Amino acid sequence: TKAGVLQNLKVLISAGPTREYLDPVRFITNRSSGKMGYALATAALRAGAQVSLVSGPVNQPAPMGVEIVFVETAAEMYDAVLAQADHSDIYIGAAAVADYSPVAVEKTKIKKQAEQTSLILQKTKDILADVALLSNAPFTVGFAAETNDLEAYAQEKLYKKNVGMIAANWVGREQGGFDSEQNAFEIFWHNGRTSLPMTDKNQLAEQLISIIATKFNEKNRV
Ligand code: PMT
Repeated sequence: TKAGVLQNLKVLISAGPTREYLDPVRFITNRSSGKMGYALATAALRAGAQVSLVSGPVNQPAPMGVEIVFVETAAEMYDAVLAQADHSDIYIGAAAVADYSPVAVEKTKIKKQAEQTSLILQKTKDILADVALLSNAPFTVGFAAETNDLEAYAQEKLYKKNVGMIAANWVGREQGGFDSEQNAFEIFWHNGRTSLPMTDKNQLAEQLISIIATKFNEKNRV
């Protein structure tokens, strides 16, 4: 990243998975390691931004100079992000937020009983969509993690959630995606797109931050 492309800007980034509790000892989660979001935080810092990270439970070292708020559930992540979004210039939603959480969190450990059982899940609130709807919304960058039809789903997220940019990545493949050292992006904005090929997540983060800075500066600092 060229030095200073995000100078004097506040960048808010979400990273990692969420945990949706069923009872005191069990939860639903996903394979996000937080690596991509933490790499973006480091790259944004190197570009001169003031960086805040809202992080799910991960095993990543805290990048020096980045303010981190730790959360567990999608609801906690929603509150932590919305608390900062309206005074941020850029929001990057790299977290793998649960789409559904259990309707009831049992106070005591669920006992093994019937041969089959089921869970009733409720949609979580969409952090990205609600950030984009703020009257004082930051430039909003969403992610799309897809196993199929990546472009169609990414375009749908771009228009439905009304965000400025979508960084889409293939997941569930041999290389890249969740819990991998490498990743690649197909990036979409309202009248353009570009590809960032498979590389180390730190390198990829620098490239994505540079694209975000270009788009932000085109829009806001002419
Ligand atoms: O953490 P790593 O191991 O390094 O892996 C990186 C990654 C694969 C997790 C990352 O690159 C990535 O793709 N993150 C988004 C994962 C995801 O949940 O994608 P999605 O297509 O389900 O969600 C689309 C967007 O909506 C995301 O920006 C997500 O943060 C956001 N979302 C989803 C649900 C919700 N309730 N609120 C949201 O804001």
